[in-house]
Amino acid sequence: MGHSEFTLRNQPAQKPLSLDELWMPFTPNRDFKSDPRMIVRAEGMYYYNDRGDKIIDASSGLFCVAAGHCRKEIAEAVHRQLGELDFAPFLRGHPKSFELASRVAELTPGDLKHIFFVNSGSEAIDTAMKAALAYHQARGQTGRTMFVSRERAYHGVNFGGVALSGIVNNRRRYGPGVAGVVHMRHTHLDANRYVPGQGEHGAELADDLTRFVNLYGAENIAACFVEPIAGSAGCIVPPKGYLERLRAICDQHGILLVFDEVITGFGRTGQPFAAQSFGVMPDMMTMAKALTNAAQPMGAVAISDRVHDAIMTAAQAGAIEFFHGYTYSGHPAACAAGLATLDIYRNEGLFERARELSPYFQDAMFSLKGTGNVTDIRGYGLFATIDIESDGAPGRRGNALQKKLFDNGLNLKNTGDSALVAPPFIAERQHIDQITEILRKTVSSL
Ligand SMILES: Cc1ncc(COP(=O)(O)O)c(C=O)c1O
Repeated sequence: MGHSEFTLRNQPAQKPLSLDELWMPFTPNRDFKSDPRMIVRAEGMYYYNDRGDKIIDASSGLFCVAAGHCRKEIAEAVHRQLGELDFAPFLRGHPKSFELASRVAELTPGDLKHIFFVNSGSEAIDTAMKAALAYHQARGQTGRTMFVSRERAYHGVNFGGVALSGIVNNRRRYGPGVAGVVHMRHTHLDANRYVPGQGEHGAELADDLTRFVNLYGAENIAACFVEPIAGSAGCIVPPKGYLERLRAICDQHGILLVFDEVITGFGRTGQPFAAQSFGVMPDMMTMAKALTNAAQPMGAVAISDRVHDAIMTAAQAGAIEFFHGYTYSGHPAACAAGLATLDIYRNEGLFERARELSPYFQDAMFSLKGTGNVTDIRGYGLFATIDIESDGAPGRRGNALQKKLFDNGLNLKNTGDSALVAPPFIAERQHIDQITEILRKTVSSL
């Protein structure tokens, strides 16, 4: 590999940055390093590059900066916390982790009131998989070790999530991984193209779960994992009746239903969680991202009474009931960031604001129908996806699009040839207009 370096523009004099050592995540490294796009600062709705150009953030970072960038309240809370208590080990409690668990539990629906902290969405998925296995073990149903997931699912990058993944590039080079995972069909149907919100077609695809019960035996299946809205695959909204049907089949066969709310959690759908927006209660829920407004890495799993109590009561007195945890689970700085974030959401009514802005946002996104190169649009809440026509090499045009958008003043996440739009909840109508116009101009000029 040749040497690449980059000199930041418009910055106080400094030596060139070597780009050789850092192996960047989920980035075409050679492409980036041959033509770097650096961001050096952020505030509110905007990123700033090293030239000082303002770039509107249309994906809330990676769906995580819901309250807008560089919130002082969060930075100050983290700063205070690190000066007071920087770390707490296993076997010791610290007040902010209990406080944050209670605050998260105020937002989670039904009896999902037991909160286990982790550091990322991927860890939340592994944790939920283990909790599902531990639950069935605790009840003597030791055969229940299989998991059901879905095509086009994204559940992070640890081996549990890779096994559940339905996006082929996430798994194709990593061997067999966790055995016993089967995938239902996805619900991205032609019949629902250009339909805002929940489509009319596809509820019957939930019956794939029944087929697995018939094929493998319910007594062998631990849990069914779904993103209520498939996020990374490009805002695939569940068809009407689909999640309800999954819930009913799970109930009928003693299978746990897990919602992966890493993207949809904390207001993206206009309610605290998509479970509330769609009126379907899972047995566990994974979350991360907007929990701390991305100012600190943190995730969590919300667990129902049923699952929690079974695991707790099966353990001998004095024993560790759930043999699981991470060094940084419930890190004091992350808890401080989480508490400050939830304060902002509450004090500024940001979930309500997201709900109120959604129709305007959805209309704006669907106004792109008919723009050159657009092949489908999907959306729900403050989340939408615009598919563009492939040039024959999947993802190449999507990558070109995200670079061109950045050069035109807009940052967003693409997956393959899809543009994922998910603005921060502090967005005003003028920001939505700005996002829409840059998209219209850039997409049509590809
Ligand atoms: C639905 C879902 N689950 C899990 C993850 C993994 O989260 P992380 O990247 O924090 O490990 C993501 C990340 O985008 C996600 O969208």
